[in-house]
Amino acid sequence: MHGNGTIFIADNDVKTRDLVSAFLTYQGYSITAAEPGNSFFDTLQKNNVDIVIADLAYLQSVAPDFLERSSLLNPLLVLIGYGDTSAFELNKTADETVFTLPKPLNLDELESLVMRAREYQSMKMYDRSVGDSAQHQLLSTTMIGTSAPMQALFEMITKVAASNATVLIQGESGTGKELAARAIHQLSDRHAKNFVPVNCAAIPDDLLESELFGHVKGSFTGAYANRAGRFEMADKGTLFLDEIGDMKANLQVKLLRVLQNREFEPVGASKSQRVDVRIVAATNKNLEELVISRDFREDLYYRLSVIPITIPPLRERREDIPLMIHTFLTRFNADKRHAVKGLSREALGILCNYEWPGNVRELENLVERLVILKGSGLIVPDDLPEKYLSGKTAQFVSVQSPGLSADNLLPDGGICLNSAVDEFENNLIMQALSRSGGNKKEAALLLNLKRTTLIEKLKKKNLAFGED
Ligand SMILES: Nc1ncnc2c1ncn2[C@@H]1O[C@H](COP(=O)(O)OP(=O)(O)OP(=O)(O)O)[C@@H](O)[C@H]1O
Ligand SMILES: [Mg+2]
Repeated sequence: MHGNGTIFIADNDVKTRDLVSAFLTYQGYSITAAEPGNSFFDTLQKNNVDIVIADLAYLQSVAPDFLERSSLLNPLLVLIGYGDTSAFELNKTADETVFTLPKPLNLDELESLVMRAREYQSMKMYDRSVGDSAQHQLLSTTMIGTSAPMQALFEMITKVAASNATVLIQGESGTGKELAARAIHQLSDRHAKNFVPVNCAAIPDDLLESELFGHVKGSFTGAYANRAGRFEMADKGTLFLDEIGDMKANLQVKLLRVLQNREFEPVGASKSQRVDVRIVAATNKNLEELVISRDFREDLYYRLSVIPITIPPLRERREDIPLMIHTFLTRFNADKRHAVKGLSREALGILCNYEWPGNVRELENLVERLVILKGSGLIVPDDLPEKYLSGKTAQFVSVQSPGLSADNLLPDGGICLNSAVDEFENNLIMQALSRSGGNKKEAALLLNLKRTTLIEKLKKKNLAFGED
């Protein structure tokens, strides 16, 4: 293998081919091109290619079955479609190892996708050689969750921990983004060094730069001595950039520079400093939207989201609620020397059907409050704060075991049919996935669906985790 790896480029458009070749050669990749007369797949196998970049129309003409075979191939496919509507279809049916990039090419985006493709590939290889059991177990001692999306999340965390790739964790408030970031650090070979969190929203704008990069004595009023920044403190460890969506434009530029060059200048310093830092960023904002509204730099977004991880809200993994309640209850009972026995079936049912806008944090706080107020005995619906009782969260389906008969599911107050059906569907899909141990093909069989239809549904429901 040469330098960064070998990339195969297949595109009849010479201009694109030359541009991509030049750009990636400059980045240290070695480039191979299609060989006329040879079959597409033969050429790939013969050349031991790491990543394939191919034009969609070209692919469709030389290898119409490429999608079915893409998962069998060692190299990953990065496809470049012309404003082609079939690219849309492709996005829906392709698995996670197929990346799409629209023409005209944005080189930042190309670079980010290539980095991501390489990470996926190294994770795939890691997966084959090491397996994930020990780390997986370690992870489940800190993060609770037996639901399919959580198991997929654990798998993802275990895999990315082994690499040095920049990770962007997105998810609603209280879903466990910081917990996931810490887990990535703990499972990485940087765990003996520092995990340094920086809350980009909590530090005043004018201090954030010195906070991140440090400053030299006398560089501004109040800078009485040299001071190391968080980047330096995180050297050989992990820097956690929390609430990255709140970072101001001028700092975004500076951060981008560090990510590109791995060096920075402390405030007031004339020389730059080098660091070996693994970056994990998190936000509860939708960064894609911030990019569109120009509140977040697109180039920085690509740099950060080499490995994007989305933690689903608690309401999309309700089957984790009972175990979470149990774990938190045990912990708070021990902390406070109380003896709350548990929740009545009705109380548990109410909490399982609640929407949890504050996600796991809200659940954790509620359990703490219940333990303090109740002290002992069984928690019943009357013990729950008003808002948990008043919602229109009808208990039409018991979360753990939905009956298949719809005979008496309609409560007196009526229900919202769409969300009820949706939830029923989610529930069955999750059960199938959990029974198949996360194997989508087997789960699809259990549901009498095509595997691609199941994957499409998971994507639509934002449950597209893990590889097949
Ligand atoms: N899967 C989980 N298992 C156990 N505890 C969890 C889990 N997810 C989150 N928590 C707990 O919930 C609380 C919130 O988690 P965390 O701070 O990681 O969320 P966050 O996504 O960073 O939230 P915010 O966006 O508000 O910063 C923490 O006390 C954390 O320990
Ligand atoms: Mg947080």
